[in-house]
Amino acid sequence: MNDNKRFEEEIKRLKNQKNAVILAHNYQLPEVQDIADFTGDSLALSQEAAKTQADMIVFCGVHFMAETASIISPDKKVLIPDQKAGCSLADTINAEQLKAWKEENPGSVVVSYVNTTAEVKALSDYCCTSANAVQIVNSIPEDKEILFLPDMFLGAYAAKVTGRKIDIWPGECHVHAGIRKQDLVEMQDSHPEAEMIIHPECGCTTNLMYQAENGTSCKNGNGNGHENGHVKFLSTGGMIKHVKESRSKEFIIATETGMLHPLRKENPDKVFHPARENAVCKYMKMITLPKVLRSLEEEIFEVKVPLNTAVKAKKSIDRMLEVTS
Ligand code: 13P
Ligand code: SF4
Repeated sequence: MNDNKRFEEEIKRLKNQKNAVILAHNYQLPEVQDIADFTGDSLALSQEAAKTQADMIVFCGVHFMAETASIISPDKKVLIPDQKAGCSLADTINAEQLKAWKEENPGSVVVSYVNTTAEVKALSDYCCTSANAVQIVNSIPEDKEILFLPDMFLGAYAAKVTGRKIDIWPGECHVHAGIRKQDLVEMQDSHPEAEMIIHPECGCTTNLMYQAENGTSCKNGNGNGHENGHVKFLSTGGMIKHVKESRSKEFIIATETGMLHPLRKENPDKVFHPARENAVCKYMKMITLPKVLRSLEEEIFEVKVPLNTAVKAKKSIDRMLEVTS
Protein backbone atom coordinates (compact mmCIF):
# COMPACT_ATOMS: atom_id res chain seq x y z
CA MET A 1 0.00 0.00 0.00
CA ASN A 2 1.50 3.42 -0.93
CA ASP A 3 1.73 6.32 1.54
CA ASN A 4 -1.20 8.26 0.10
CA LYS A 5 -3.45 5.17 0.34
CA ARG A 6 -2.46 4.70 3.99
CA PHE A 7 -3.25 8.36 4.78
CA GLU A 8 -6.55 8.14 2.92
CA GLU A 9 -7.69 5.07 4.88
CA GLU A 10 -6.74 6.55 8.23
CA ILE A 11 -8.42 9.87 7.35
CA LYS A 12 -11.62 8.03 6.37
CA ARG A 13 -11.63 6.01 9.58
CA LEU A 14 -11.13 9.04 11.83
CA LYS A 15 -13.60 11.12 9.89
CA ASN A 16 -16.35 8.57 10.46
CA GLN A 17 -15.37 8.07 14.10
CA LYS A 18 -15.53 11.82 14.82
CA ASN A 19 -18.50 12.64 12.57
CA ALA A 20 -16.33 15.07 10.64
CA VAL A 21 -16.77 16.42 7.13
CA ILE A 22 -13.89 17.43 4.85
CA LEU A 23 -14.48 20.47 2.65
CA ALA A 24 -11.89 21.31 -0.02
CA HIS A 25 -11.50 24.26 -2.34
CA ASN A 26 -10.99 23.68 -6.07
CA TYR A 27 -7.36 24.87 -5.80
CA GLN A 28 -6.31 22.20 -3.30
CA LEU A 29 -3.77 19.51 -4.17
CA PRO A 30 -5.42 16.72 -6.24
CA GLU A 31 -5.02 14.10 -3.47
CA VAL A 32 -6.64 16.46 -0.95
CA GLN A 33 -9.58 17.17 -3.28
CA ASP A 34 -9.97 13.43 -3.79
CA ILE A 35 -10.45 12.61 -0.09
CA ALA A 36 -12.89 15.51 0.48
CA ASP A 37 -16.60 14.93 1.03
CA PHE A 38 -17.31 18.10 -0.85
CA THR A 39 -15.23 20.27 -3.21
CA GLY A 40 -16.25 23.61 -4.61
CA ASP A 41 -15.78 27.37 -4.89
CA SER A 42 -15.97 29.77 -1.95
CA LEU A 43 -19.74 30.19 -2.24
CA ALA A 44 -20.52 26.47 -2.48
CA LEU A 45 -18.22 25.70 0.45
CA SER A 46 -19.91 28.28 2.68
CA GLN A 47 -23.32 26.92 1.69
CA GLU A 48 -22.12 23.40 2.52
CA ALA A 49 -20.74 24.56 5.89
CA ALA A 50 -24.16 26.08 6.62
CA LYS A 51 -26.06 22.85 6.04
CA THR A 52 -23.71 20.09 7.21
CA GLN A 53 -24.88 17.78 10.01
CA ALA A 54 -21.26 16.98 10.98
CA ASP A 55 -19.85 17.95 14.39
CA MET A 56 -16.49 18.87 12.95
CA ILE A 57 -15.42 20.58 9.70
CA VAL A 58 -11.89 20.03 8.40
CA PHE A 59 -11.46 22.93 6.04
CA CYS A 60 -8.95 22.32 3.27
CA GLY A 61 -8.57 25.81 1.93
CA VAL A 62 -7.21 29.09 3.25
CA HIS A 63 -7.77 30.78 6.59
CA PHE A 64 -10.54 33.23 5.63
CA MET A 65 -12.57 30.31 4.23
CA ALA A 66 -12.29 28.38 7.51
CA GLU A 67 -13.25 31.56 9.38
CA THR A 68 -16.32 31.90 7.18
CA ALA A 69 -17.31 28.31 7.98
CA SER A 70 -16.87 29.01 11.69
CA ILE A 71 -18.96 32.21 11.48
CA ILE A 72 -21.76 30.32 9.70
CA SER A 73 -21.60 27.26 11.98
CA PRO A 74 -20.42 28.53 15.40
CA ASP A 75 -21.54 25.32 17.12
CA LYS A 76 -19.22 23.18 14.96
CA LYS A 77 -15.54 22.62 15.53
CA VAL A 78 -13.80 24.09 12.45
CA LEU A 79 -10.22 22.96 11.81
CA ILE A 80 -7.63 24.12 9.31
CA PRO A 81 -4.77 21.64 8.77
CA ASP A 82 -2.16 24.43 8.45
CA GLN A 83 -2.56 27.77 10.22
CA LYS A 84 -0.18 29.49 7.83
CA ALA A 85 -2.51 28.97 4.87
CA GLY A 86 -3.38 32.65 4.44
CA CYS A 87 -4.33 34.78 1.44
CA SER A 88 -2.33 37.67 -0.02
CA LEU A 89 -5.54 39.30 -1.24
CA ALA A 90 -7.24 39.20 2.18
CA ASP A 91 -4.09 40.79 3.63
CA THR A 92 -4.47 43.91 1.46
CA ILE A 93 -7.06 45.48 3.80
CA ASN A 94 -7.54 45.39 7.57
CA ALA A 95 -10.33 46.63 9.83
CA GLU A 96 -8.60 49.96 10.58
CA GLN A 97 -8.18 50.74 6.88
CA LEU A 98 -11.81 49.86 6.18
CA LYS A 99 -13.02 52.03 9.08
CA ALA A 100 -11.08 55.00 7.65
CA TRP A 101 -12.42 54.38 4.13
CA LYS A 102 -16.01 54.24 5.45
CA GLU A 103 -15.51 57.49 7.35
CA GLU A 104 -14.37 59.19 4.14
CA ASN A 105 -17.52 57.89 2.39
CA PRO A 106 -20.45 58.12 4.84
CA GLY A 107 -23.68 56.43 3.75
CA SER A 108 -21.95 54.11 1.27
CA VAL A 109 -22.81 50.42 1.07
CA VAL A 110 -19.76 48.21 1.66
CA VAL A 111 -19.46 45.04 -0.43
CA SER A 112 -16.60 42.80 0.65
CA TYR A 113 -15.32 39.90 -1.35
CA VAL A 114 -15.26 36.73 0.77
CA ASN A 115 -11.42 36.88 0.65
CA THR A 116 -11.32 39.11 3.76
CA THR A 117 -10.80 38.61 7.49
CA ALA A 118 -13.76 38.22 9.86
CA GLU A 119 -13.05 41.74 11.25
CA VAL A 120 -13.40 43.24 7.78
CA LYS A 121 -16.58 41.25 7.12
CA ALA A 122 -17.97 42.55 10.43
CA LEU A 123 -17.64 46.11 9.10
CA SER A 124 -19.28 45.25 5.76
CA ASP A 125 -22.90 45.37 4.60
CA TYR A 126 -22.60 42.54 2.09
CA CYS A 127 -20.19 39.72 1.56
CA CYS A 128 -19.85 38.39 -2.01
CA THR A 129 -17.88 35.76 -3.92
CA SER A 130 -16.70 35.66 -7.51
CA ALA A 131 -19.84 33.65 -8.32
CA ASN A 132 -22.25 36.33 -7.13
CA ALA A 133 -20.47 39.74 -7.04
CA VAL A 134 -22.61 40.98 -9.95
CA GLN A 135 -25.86 39.76 -8.39
CA ILE A 136 -25.00 41.45 -5.07
CA VAL A 137 -24.14 44.78 -6.72
CA ASN A 138 -27.35 44.59 -8.77
CA SER A 139 -29.38 44.08 -5.58
CA ILE A 140 -28.23 47.42 -4.10
CA PRO A 141 -30.52 50.42 -4.78
CA GLU A 142 -29.22 52.60 -7.65
CA ASP A 143 -28.99 55.73 -5.49
CA LYS A 144 -26.50 54.14 -3.09
CA GLU A 145 -22.74 54.63 -3.39
CA ILE A 146 -20.84 51.34 -3.28
CA LEU A 147 -17.43 50.64 -1.75
CA PHE A 148 -16.08 47.36 -3.14
CA LEU A 149 -13.09 45.56 -1.62
CA PRO A 150 -10.47 44.21 -1.72
CA ASP A 151 -9.98 42.87 -5.28
CA MET A 152 -9.69 45.61 -7.89
CA PHE A 153 -10.10 43.28 -10.87
CA LEU A 154 -13.27 41.65 -9.55
CA GLY A 155 -14.52 45.14 -8.59
CA ALA A 156 -13.83 46.46 -12.10
CA TYR A 157 -15.52 43.38 -13.54
CA ALA A 158 -18.65 43.91 -11.38
CA ALA A 159 -18.74 47.64 -12.28
CA LYS A 160 -18.47 46.84 -15.98
CA VAL A 161 -21.14 44.14 -15.99
CA THR A 162 -23.64 46.10 -13.88
CA GLY A 163 -22.88 49.53 -15.37
CA ARG A 164 -22.65 50.91 -11.78
CA LYS A 165 -20.14 53.44 -10.57
CA ILE A 166 -18.22 51.67 -7.79
CA ASP A 167 -15.36 52.85 -5.55
CA ILE A 168 -12.83 50.04 -5.62
CA TRP A 169 -10.08 49.17 -3.12
CA PRO A 170 -6.74 48.70 -4.94
CA GLY A 171 -6.06 45.14 -3.71
CA GLU A 172 -5.05 42.16 -5.80
CA CYS A 173 -4.22 38.47 -5.53
CA HIS A 174 -0.60 37.96 -6.55
CA VAL A 175 -1.43 34.70 -8.31
CA HIS A 176 -4.29 36.01 -10.45
CA ALA A 177 -2.79 39.45 -11.05
CA GLY A 178 0.16 37.62 -12.60
CA ILE A 179 -2.04 36.26 -15.40
CA ARG A 180 -1.75 39.02 -18.01
CA LYS A 181 -3.46 39.66 -21.30
CA GLN A 182 -0.23 38.73 -23.13
CA ASP A 183 -0.40 35.20 -21.63
CA LEU A 184 -3.87 34.76 -23.05
CA VAL A 185 -2.95 36.14 -26.45
CA GLU A 186 -0.05 33.69 -26.71
CA MET A 187 -2.18 30.77 -25.52
CA GLN A 188 -4.91 31.58 -27.99
CA ASP A 189 -2.39 31.76 -30.83
CA SER A 190 -1.18 28.27 -29.91
CA HIS A 191 -4.69 26.86 -29.38
CA PRO A 192 -7.01 28.76 -31.76
CA GLU A 193 -9.95 26.36 -31.26
CA ALA A 194 -9.87 26.55 -27.46
CA GLU A 195 -12.51 28.30 -25.40
CA MET A 196 -11.00 30.76 -22.91
CA ILE A 197 -12.29 30.73 -19.33
CA ILE A 198 -11.12 33.45 -16.97
CA HIS A 199 -11.49 33.95 -13.21
CA PRO A 200 -12.55 37.58 -12.58
CA GLU A 201 -9.63 38.08 -10.13
CA CYS A 202 -7.18 37.87 -13.04
CA GLY A 203 -5.10 40.89 -14.05
CA CYS A 204 -6.23 40.45 -17.64
CA THR A 205 -9.94 40.69 -16.73
CA THR A 206 -10.44 44.44 -16.91
CA ASN A 207 -8.58 44.68 -20.15
CA LEU A 208 -10.67 41.99 -21.77
CA MET A 209 -13.92 43.34 -20.36
CA TYR A 210 -13.24 46.62 -22.12
CA GLN A 211 -12.67 44.70 -25.32
CA ALA A 212 -16.03 43.02 -24.75
CA GLU A 213 -17.73 46.42 -25.28
CA ASN A 214 -18.71 45.45 -28.79
CA GLY A 215 -19.51 41.84 -28.00
CA THR A 216 -22.46 40.44 -26.06
CA SER A 217 -23.85 43.19 -23.82
CA CYS A 218 -22.02 43.17 -20.49
CA LYS A 219 -25.22 44.27 -18.79
CA ASN A 220 -26.77 40.89 -19.51
CA GLY A 221 -24.37 39.17 -17.11
CA ASN A 222 -26.27 37.16 -14.49
CA GLY A 223 -23.46 36.98 -11.96
CA ASN A 224 -22.48 33.51 -13.02
CA GLY A 225 -20.31 34.69 -15.84
CA HIS A 226 -20.15 36.88 -18.86
CA GLU A 227 -19.64 35.60 -22.36
CA ASN A 228 -17.86 37.29 -25.23
CA GLY A 229 -17.52 34.82 -28.09
CA HIS A 230 -14.76 32.44 -27.05
CA VAL A 231 -14.16 34.16 -23.68
CA LYS A 232 -16.07 33.55 -20.46
CA PHE A 233 -15.57 35.08 -16.99
CA LEU A 234 -16.47 32.58 -14.26
CA SER A 235 -15.92 31.63 -10.62
CA THR A 236 -14.18 28.29 -10.09
CA GLY A 237 -17.55 26.57 -9.50
CA GLY A 238 -18.96 28.30 -12.59
CA MET A 239 -16.05 26.88 -14.62
CA ILE A 240 -16.92 23.31 -13.67
CA LYS A 241 -20.58 23.78 -14.58
CA HIS A 242 -19.84 25.56 -17.85
CA VAL A 243 -17.22 23.10 -19.13
CA LYS A 244 -19.58 20.17 -18.53
CA GLU A 245 -22.30 21.84 -20.59
CA SER A 246 -20.08 23.30 -23.34
CA ARG A 247 -19.73 21.63 -26.74
CA SER A 248 -16.10 22.81 -26.97
CA LYS A 249 -13.42 20.14 -26.66
CA GLU A 250 -10.49 22.37 -25.70
CA PHE A 251 -10.18 25.07 -23.03
CA ILE A 252 -7.64 27.62 -21.78
CA ILE A 253 -8.10 28.05 -18.04
CA ALA A 254 -7.01 31.37 -16.54
CA THR A 255 -6.88 30.83 -12.79
CA GLU A 256 -4.87 28.94 -10.15
CA THR A 257 -3.69 25.66 -11.69
CA GLY A 258 -5.33 23.44 -9.01
CA MET A 259 -8.51 24.04 -11.00
CA LEU A 260 -7.24 21.74 -13.75
CA HIS A 261 -7.66 18.67 -11.53
CA PRO A 262 -11.47 18.73 -11.09
CA LEU A 263 -11.94 19.83 -14.71
CA ARG A 264 -9.85 16.94 -16.08
CA LYS A 265 -11.38 14.44 -13.67
CA GLU A 266 -14.95 15.28 -14.65
CA ASN A 267 -14.26 15.73 -18.37
CA PRO A 268 -11.80 13.05 -19.50
CA ASP A 269 -12.70 13.60 -23.17
CA LYS A 270 -11.78 17.32 -23.08
CA VAL A 271 -8.39 19.04 -23.17
CA PHE A 272 -7.34 21.79 -20.74
CA HIS A 273 -4.40 24.20 -20.86
CA PRO A 274 -3.46 26.47 -17.94
CA ALA A 275 -3.17 30.11 -19.08
CA ARG A 276 -0.01 30.28 -16.98
CA GLU A 277 1.78 27.20 -15.64
CA ASN A 278 3.17 29.03 -12.62
CA ALA A 279 -0.18 30.44 -11.43
CA VAL A 280 0.13 28.49 -8.19
CA CYS A 281 -1.16 29.65 -4.79
CA LYS A 282 1.44 28.54 -2.25
CA TYR A 283 -1.09 28.99 0.57
CA MET A 284 -3.60 26.58 -0.98
CA LYS A 285 -0.83 24.03 -1.49
CA MET A 286 0.17 24.07 2.21
CA ILE A 287 -2.59 21.56 2.97
CA THR A 288 -1.33 18.00 2.49
CA LEU A 289 -2.72 14.55 3.37
CA PRO A 290 -0.40 14.09 6.40
CA LYS A 291 -1.56 17.49 7.71
CA VAL A 292 -5.23 16.57 7.18
CA LEU A 293 -4.66 13.37 9.13
CA ARG A 294 -2.87 15.19 11.96
CA SER A 295 -5.65 17.75 12.03
CA LEU A 296 -8.24 15.01 12.58
CA GLU A 297 -6.11 13.12 15.10
CA GLU A 298 -5.19 16.09 17.29
CA GLU A 299 -8.21 18.28 16.42
CA ILE A 300 -5.93 21.13 15.33
CA PHE A 301 -5.88 23.97 14.36
CA GLU A 302 -9.22 25.25 15.54
CA VAL A 303 -10.48 28.42 13.85
CA LYS A 304 -12.80 30.37 16.13
CA VAL A 305 -14.02 33.92 15.62
CA PRO A 306 -14.82 36.05 18.73
CA LEU A 307 -18.61 36.09 19.20
CA ASN A 308 -19.08 39.85 18.78
CA THR A 309 -17.16 39.87 15.48
CA ALA A 310 -18.80 36.65 14.30
CA VAL A 311 -22.35 37.98 14.85
CA LYS A 312 -21.64 41.14 12.84
CA ALA A 313 -19.72 39.28 10.10
CA LYS A 314 -22.54 36.73 9.81
CA LYS A 315 -25.00 39.49 8.88
CA SER A 316 -22.97 40.32 5.76
CA ILE A 317 -22.75 36.62 4.82
CA ASP A 318 -26.47 36.04 5.48
CA ARG A 319 -27.36 39.01 3.26
CA MET A 320 -25.26 37.43 0.51
CA LEU A 321 -26.89 34.02 0.94
CA GLU A 322 -30.37 35.65 0.91
CA VAL A 323 -29.65 37.39 -2.42
CA THR A 324 -28.21 34.24 -4.01
CA SER A 325 -30.54 31.53 -2.70
P1 13P B 1 -13.74 31.14 -6.01
O1 13P B 1 -14.75 31.77 -5.13
O2 13P B 1 -14.04 31.36 -7.46
O3 13P B 1 -13.57 29.72 -5.66
O4 13P B 1 -12.33 31.86 -5.76
C1 13P B 1 -11.74 31.92 -4.49
C2 13P B 1 -10.34 32.36 -4.53
O5 13P B 1 -9.63 32.44 -3.55
C3 13P B 1 -9.82 32.73 -5.81
O6 13P B 1 -8.46 32.91 -5.67
FE1 SF4 C 1 -5.84 34.25 -1.95
FE2 SF4 C 1 -4.98 34.41 -4.45
FE3 SF4 C 1 -4.52 32.22 -3.07
FE4 SF4 C 1 -7.03 32.79 -3.89
S1 SF4 C 1 -5.27 32.31 -5.17
S2 SF4 C 1 -6.42 32.09 -1.86
S3 SF4 C 1 -7.01 35.02 -3.71
S4 SF4 C 1 -3.71 34.26 -2.61
